[in-house]
Parts: sequence; structure tokens; C-alpha cells
Amino acid sequence: MDKLIIKGGYTISGSVNVHGAKNSALPIIVSSLLSEKTLKLSNVPNVVDVLNLIKLLKNYGVKIEHKKNKLKINSSKINNLSADYDVVRKMRASILILGPLLSRFGEARISLPGGCAIGTRPIDIHLTGLSKLGASFEIQNGFIVGNVKSQLVGNSIKLPFPSVGATENILMASVLAKGETKISNAAREPEIEDLSNCLIKMGAKIEGYGTKTILVQGVTNLKKAEHHIISDRIVAGTYIIAALMLNSALEIKYVNTIYLKSLINVLKKMGAKLKETKNSIRVFKGAKLKSTSISTSPYPGFPTDLQAQLMSLMCLSDGKSKIKETIFENRFMHVPELNRLGANITVEKDVATIIGNQTFKGAQVMASDLRASISLVLAAMNANGQTTLNRVYHLDRGYENIEKTLGSLGAKIKRKKN
Ligand code: EPZ
Repeated sequence: MDKLIIKGGYTISGSVNVHGAKNSALPIIVSSLLSEKTLKLSNVPNVVDVLNLIKLLKNYGVKIEHKKNKLKINSSKINNLSADYDVVRKMRASILILGPLLSRFGEARISLPGGCAIGTRPIDIHLTGLSKLGASFEIQNGFIVGNVKSQLVGNSIKLPFPSVGATENILMASVLAKGETKISNAAREPEIEDLSNCLIKMGAKIEGYGTKTILVQGVTNLKKAEHHIISDRIVAGTYIIAALMLNSALEIKYVNTIYLKSLINVLKKMGAKLKETKNSIRVFKGAKLKSTSISTSPYPGFPTDLQAQLMSLMCLSDGKSKIKETIFENRFMHVPELNRLGANITVEKDVATIIGNQTFKGAQVMASDLRASISLVLAAMNANGQTTLNRVYHLDRGYENIEKTLGSLGAKIKRKKN
């Protein structure tokens, strides 16, 4: 397994372009299963989750041409409707395949995804919503087997929680369902908007996306389409926090700053000097950051995917900060590792208390999940001495060439291949 060797104490500078959003690319690539026509995508991030999804869809017989950040996908000839455990366990987003396959073919067989480091990750909201459209499910030897008697039929579905994945699964399934589907308490993340915009280009009839209530009128077929994936707001937020932690001036480009409002508000409250335009944000050096308290919540609240990165920054800010994690039941795996780097963080149920004004010192640390690992990279870049970060594959799932990108800005990071 690859390791990263990080020498701390260097500032970064210059400008960085943010790549396409992983959590937008994944559902949009899956949505190609709904159509017999070609879907062309640009600004697709070259991250491991996307590469695994491409492999999975090729197993189904999907034709995919992948050139740099562009994909040309054609799902007219599907010859398999089953996804196996070893693929699904590596990438939970495979569960999104259920909706499109049930909607277009009336059947699907997906290995139960199982949990992951940040939680059990149940799929009850997905299955309840798809059942409301007329699908029936059985669990057979660790697989979910879904069937539809004739055709999915539109219905009114109220989600008990604005689950991002469940909203995407039900939304995609309703595109070819008969009649109208209303999804209430839907997730409002920008990635839902991006998926909806792509589906509309393919011929779907969708209103209200990005709000709590989405309305879909089923259609009978879809047409060829092209779509440019939005940029990754979590990667952009990570770079902003990196610059603040290293007291560095940095320009972050190709970012939809409107999608980062909750982060920007928190950082400005802490004393960060930021100047944003519609598609870029400048971080200025010299800010003396003070502590604050936040609680993660569904969009437009503070994103759980930036919680670990903010925690690293809070270790350096003045005073005591608190973070309440309300989305996942086990998303503080980075705490013991940050403490190994010299942080002073305690956890009481779903609240982490971070004592500020700490000094990070290099150590051996272990990545546990995608966002926890990047919080360790940020701390290591700030630490005195050298840090070895093990299990770098977690990072590669969501960040394109992270050591090259940060290295090009001045960080001293080397990958040791094992
Ligand atoms: C998406 O995961 C993202 N992944 C996650 O990003 C992100 O953290 C999460 O949304 C929240 O914003 C992708 O888009 C591929 P949820 P998802 O369904 O859809 C519970 C990253 O680092 N729940 O909104 O799985 C669930 O257990 C990843 O890029 C149910 O109980 O998130 C969790 O506690 C990590 N039953 C909460 O809802 C269900 O059927 C939020 O989950 C579904 C979810």
C-alpha cells in the first residue's frame, strides 16, 4: 500500500484549479444506464472511485471511452444486471445503479454494500422509496434482488431524512416511471442539481431540484446529451483550509463559491481573510484565527465532508472549538490520528472539543476514510518534522494527484509506492 512522506513547515502559494466533483460524476455516470443514447461528459475527475465505477459499468456491457477528463458512454447494450460484492464494497455509490436498472429493465441484483469506516451506511431510505414506485426487493445470499412487475409508477415519496444517495436513486428511477413522482424532504446538495441538469439534457422532465421538493414527470425515452460536471466543492474547501493552516496566500480557481457559503461564513467568523468572486476565491495570509463551534448538517448547512479538514484548522486557532457531527455516527476517526500529531481533541458522543494553539509534530499516522486522510495531510504539512501517512488509497478515491497538486504549490510531499 502506498504511503505519503510529508515534510512539514513549508508554505504554499500560487493558484490551483479545482477538478470535477466526484459526488456529482458518480451519479451522473450511473444515470447513463437509463438511456440507449450516448452521454458525453467533461470535467470528470480522474479519481479511483470514478475509475472503479467505469470498470463496473463495463461489466454490464456499457461502452465507455475515457480520455483524460472526458467520458463517452453508451448503455444501449446491457448484458448483465448484477454487481458483485468486491466492487460494491469498494464503492458504496454502486447502490445508485438500482434506480436506473429497475426503471429501464425492471430488474437489478446488487451486493449489499456493507458499512464503511464512517458508519453502517444503511440503504433503507433507498429501498423504501423505490418500493413506493413499485419495485419489490428480496435479500438473497448477501445480494439485494430488485424486481418490477411491469413498469415503475410515479408516486409521492417523503424521505425521513434528506439522504443524498436515496434522493439520487429515487430521482433516476422516476425519470422513466409512468406518471408524476414527488420527492419531499429531498436532499438539496449541488450534486443533486448537477445530476438533474444532466438528466434534463437527456430529456427528463424535472422541477424543484435543489429545493426540498422535486417533481418528476416520467418520459418514455431519452436522447443523447453532453454535460460538464460541476467542480468539487469539498476539494475546493480543502485547499482554502490548507492555505489558512499554512498562513499562505493562495488563489483557488474553477470553484462555484456559492456552493461554499457555509464554509466561507464559518472561516470569516474565525477571522480568515478571503475574497471571493463567482468562480474563484483568494486566501490572504496573516489572519489570526480564533475558535468557533459548528454542527454539520445537510446542504446548505456545514458539509460533513469538510468536518475533518476544519478540525485540523481549529487545532491551530486561538481558543477552544467544538464540532458536532450530525450526519454520520462514526466520523471522528481522524481524532486519534490528529492527536498523534500533537492535537488535543476529546470526543464525547457526537461532539469533538478541540483545544487550539497546538503545534503539530511529525509522526506515523494511518488514513481511515477519504476525508479523514486529507485532514492528516493538512496537519502534516503544518507539522515540525516528517510525517508518514499510511493507506493512501483512501485519499486517491477523492483527490486527483493530491501530492503533485500540493507539491506544485510548494508543499514537500512524496509518494512511496509499496
Ligand atoms: C453522500 O453519501 C456522499 N457520497 C458522502 O460523501 C457525503 O458525506 C454524504 O452524501 C452526506 O453529504 C456520495 O455522494 C458518493 P446520505 P450518502 O445518504 O448518499 C443515513 C465522501 O467523502 N442513511 O446523505 O451515502 C446515513 O447512514 C462521501 O465523498 C440512512 O439511514 O449519504 C447517514 O447517516 C462520504 N438510510 C445519513 O443518512 C439510507 O437509506 C446521510 O447519508 C441512506 C442514508
